[in-house]
Amino acid sequence: MTFLFNSDAARAKVFAAQFAKDLPEVPFASDPALVDPESVRYLMTWTPPADLARYTNLEILFSIGAGVDQLDASKLPAHVKLVRMVEGGIIRMMREYVTLGVLALHRRLPEYLAQQARAEWKPQPVKQAHERRVGVLGLGHLGKAVLEQLRPFGFPLSGWSRSAHEIDGVTCHHGADQLDGFLANTDILICLLPLTPETRGLLNGELFAKLPQGAALIHAGRGPQLDQSALIAALDSGHLSGAVLDVTDPEPLPSDHPLWRHAGIIITPHIASVTQPETAAKAAIENIRRHQNGLEPIGLIDRSRGY
Ligand code: NDP
Ligand code: OXD
Repeated sequence: MTFLFNSDAARAKVFAAQFAKDLPEVPFASDPALVDPESVRYLMTWTPPADLARYTNLEILFSIGAGVDQLDASKLPAHVKLVRMVEGGIIRMMREYVTLGVLALHRRLPEYLAQQARAEWKPQPVKQAHERRVGVLGLGHLGKAVLEQLRPFGFPLSGWSRSAHEIDGVTCHHGADQLDGFLANTDILICLLPLTPETRGLLNGELFAKLPQGAALIHAGRGPQLDQSALIAALDSGHLSGAVLDVTDPEPLPSDHPLWRHAGIIITPHIASVTQPETAAKAAIENIRRHQNGLEPIGLIDRSRGY
């Protein structure tokens, strides 16, 4: 009953030590060449190995990240559980990243960076936090954590999800019918949605037009959710005032891509959150124990929804 870990050596070392300490009855392996494929019950990976079919007794395929869009669930036998990563490190880093982005856009950092490049000393008008409405697309583990982190600043907060939620101090919207109302009242839009057929291309020109004049975007979901040309057009027309992008399509973004050189855009190379091996190993061990006790693993993907 082996747990096969398919990632870098540094993380494998941390996982191996945690498994040896907390789950010694499940042998840990990080070299597929050295395991009997039939013994592999649990596999953790980012992208699926080409020879996935050789693990004939696989019970759980774990994503090492919070997203599972890179793992083609349609190729997995129906009885194999697909589980995404839910661990405190990812959540903590996303709180930091989105707060950084919101404050940068709220305090007009892209404009000041452009002014600095021109050695131009020019204070811009300042809005107060209570005048800047912040809205989050996706009220899952990350969306909720980010909203909680932003609450003390005093921004009016709202969110949008597929099903109804109630969150203290947050105006919650759900479903396609309530999207327009949410957008009309959002000055800084944060995307923390999983990539599914429904969310692919959602951040497009039509959606941007529904945001108030001067709104801005923070995109930390997945690159293919954004129509990048539409973003540039909305910035160039002045309808949008700025964007912080942690995800692009493709990744890495080619060096001649126009997004790189747009003065209204800040780009980071998909580093908003990175799985932290210490907490991730504990989360994986807890999930194996849950599975062995007949409980649902935390982060189990509903394959019909795609997240
Ligand atoms: P969750 O599964 O916990 O939450 C997903 C949220 O999105 C839920 O609120 C869900 O609604 C909502 N949602 C999904 N589909 C739709 C839809 N069609 N319409 C409206 N709402 C929808 O995911 P996490 O919060 O853990 O992570 C979100 C995503 O963040 C990941 O899938 C990944 O793509 C991205 N990510 C990016 C990272 C980075 O470094 N840039 C790092 C980690 C994650 P409901 O609540 O009703 O189910
Ligand atoms: C993730 C990511 O899904 O890094 O964890 O984007």
